[in-house]
Amino acid sequence: HLSDGEMIRKIYEKKRQFGDDLLILAHHYQKNEIIPFADYVGDSLQLAKEAAANESAKHIIFCGVHFMAETADMLTTADQKVYLPDALAGCSMADMANLEQLEQAWQFLETTYAEPVIPVTYINSTAAVKAFVGNHDGVIVTSSNAETILKRVFDKHQRVLFLPDQHLGRNTAYQLGIPLEQMAVWHPKQNRLEAEGDLQNLKVILWQGRCCVHQQYTVEQIKTLRSQISNLKVIVHPECPIEVVQASDSYGSTKKIIDEVAASPEGTKWAIGTDNNLVNRLIQSFPNHDIRSINASAFSCITMNRIRLAHLLWTLEEIEQGSTIQQITVDEATQISSLKALERMLAK
Ligand code: 13P
Ligand code: SF4
Repeated sequence: HLSDGEMIRKIYEKKRQFGDDLLILAHHYQKNEIIPFADYVGDSLQLAKEAAANESAKHIIFCGVHFMAETADMLTTADQKVYLPDALAGCSMADMANLEQLEQAWQFLETTYAEPVIPVTYINSTAAVKAFVGNHDGVIVTSSNAETILKRVFDKHQRVLFLPDQHLGRNTAYQLGIPLEQMAVWHPKQNRLEAEGDLQNLKVILWQGRCCVHQQYTVEQIKTLRSQISNLKVIVHPECPIEVVQASDSYGSTKKIIDEVAASPEGTKWAIGTDNNLVNRLIQSFPNHDIRSINASAFSCITMNRIRLAHLLWTLEEIEQGSTIQQITVDEATQISSLKALERMLAK
């Protein structure tokens, strides 16, 4: 058993030895102990772009969750290897949509609608789901670009299936002016659309998926904070339910939340609704702002938190020995299909 200090020293040493052959990417929700080792810290979109832009690193350690490492593998060259420091760092939301369920939903949509339905998947989805979407003229979105891309889809088409996060889908479509009456929820486990009235009026079919982290922020918490603190600015992530977004002053991806806080004058009072690892880091990084979580006792993402110093060190040691035990790979056929949807997202 090594102490934290010894692990930190060894990680820095190995990072130096690898030099430009190694790239460490970390999502904003990672633990504080991981962040200093990252060459780049970002939200899902930034990290995907960073992986795609780097052609020199032979080894990319992705401190994030499984779907992010899969995406990075698809966006890098065949000789670049992507590793996830803990194989159990999945995303419960991504796991809420599997290919079989999607094929069943698709059958229903194809028999219900004469015009094509466009599948739009949040990047928080498995490579198999992305591949299906890529093969059906669909596109991938992240929380940073969902609005722009959904608008682009609606310029040409009249109906979408949005998966797996119903909240990002609902919040984004509502922001684009689509009324809630024109959205309905698809229940994958029951293979059923929860809709009243004429199905032909629907524009957005929302998959019944959600993020357990962002479910912990509520309208009541926001109301209580507003009653205690005057001039409070509330910002939340679009994975929060629509009532929570509507009770807030603004919403956006992790990057947008950081940018808004950073751009606000010192002394601004903020209440933030996203993973508390990030909120606590913002509290430390902006000591002259008055920042709090909407729910300080909310648990932060369990799988993001799986990655600890020991996993990072172990991964580096494995790579050094030529082992690929931590490598994440996507098979070629899945990759080719998924890339169609990813490239539609990344296209200007
Ligand atoms: P962003 O990184 O796009 O803000 O998404 C948050 C998230 O839930 C990552 O899993
Ligand atoms: Fe998945 Fe939610 Fe964790 Fe993001 S925060 S990785 S959506 S479970």
